Amino acid sequence: MLLSPHANRLVSSRVAPARPVSSLLEDARHGLLQRPRTLPPKYFYDDRGSRLFEAICQTPEYYPSRTEAALLSAHADSIIEQAAPAHLLELGSGSSRKTRHLLDACDRLGRPCGYWPFDVSAGMMLDAGAALVADYAWLHVHALIGDYTGGLSGLPLRQAGRRLIVFLGGTLGNFEPADARAMLREIATLMRGDDGLLVGLDRVKDRARLEAAYDDADGMTAAFNGNVLSVLNRELGAGFPVDTYRHRAVFDENKARIEMRLVAGHDHRVQLPALDTHIDMQAGEEILTEVSYKFTPASIEALLREAGLTLTRHYEADGGDYSLLLAKRA
Ligand code: SAH
Ligand code: TRP
Repeated sequence: MLLSPHANRLVSSRVAPARPVSSLLEDARHGLLQRPRTLPPKYFYDDRGSRLFEAICQTPEYYPSRTEAALLSAHADSIIEQAAPAHLLELGSGSSRKTRHLLDACDRLGRPCGYWPFDVSAGMMLDAGAALVADYAWLHVHALIGDYTGGLSGLPLRQAGRRLIVFLGGTLGNFEPADARAMLREIATLMRGDDGLLVGLDRVKDRARLEAAYDDADGMTAAFNGNVLSVLNRELGAGFPVDTYRHRAVFDENKARIEMRLVAGHDHRVQLPALDTHIDMQAGEEILTEVSYKFTPASIEALLREAGLTLTRHYEADGGDYSLLLAKRA
């Protein structure tokens, strides 16, 4: 076997869920047999989905990723100086591309730290980890493979030293408000005295820019959304005619959220052999596949406060397009 010369600085382990997590089968039964039909977002991220998400981040319409990267690049030194982390723990790390700004700051400031990415998409995370240990000679990566909806108490976090917990990409906005609060509370519980939390959240803005960000002209978002049906076809032997579904992104102003939907192009029956049943989809009928909440300075403050956290710094993009928040336990 060929091992990379840096392999001893990349280790991975599976995180056992601290509480039961529903299986794809259970989620499909729950989500698809009820109205409105829904699916949880974690199933987007198989290998193809993870690559499509990276492609979304390169589209001109999807400003959140680029804007968050610019904030990280501008403020990484300040963040690392304040948080002084011995360990970076990142939830939903994906390609870890933006995290490099933080690692670069650690490098510049002569403050090496350990990196603990935590993601369901093992392939993407391990590729990213291998690239990171090759690029940062001092870096040790402990990749944690698992589902954060199963809780954080099973994470191997016994090491001494300050931690900075990182949750980027506006992914916390993909949780329903009660779940976002619960997730933040769980993060707060994990935090010791001086540990920090760095969260990126997208902001409410005009409908046209929001909807375009979730419906790019090249169709990367549409392909990403439709991929969840391919996952169901592959994993459950379902019979979704993927290419006949249309992607639709709608901003709901009252809820301050983008809703991603898949719209059936014609009447059809979908066999769901793993569930021993089928569903009849009518032309125009929709499946809600993702929500993405958008925030205001006031809703951000409230969310953190309700989770027992206080804001220590609020880094805002020009015009309030995006927020990067540094917080501590209250
Ligand atoms: N942080 C990166 C990626 C954001 S996409 C960025 O900002 O660009 C969301 C990431 O969260 C994906 O890598 C996906 O695999 C991961 N993810 C989604 N649901 C998850 C879950 N339930 N548990 C762990 N990781 C999850
Ligand atoms: N966290 C990202 C967001 O809410 C996820 C995302 C971006 C997404 N584009 C998408 C999810 C399209 C589903 C469909 O911005």
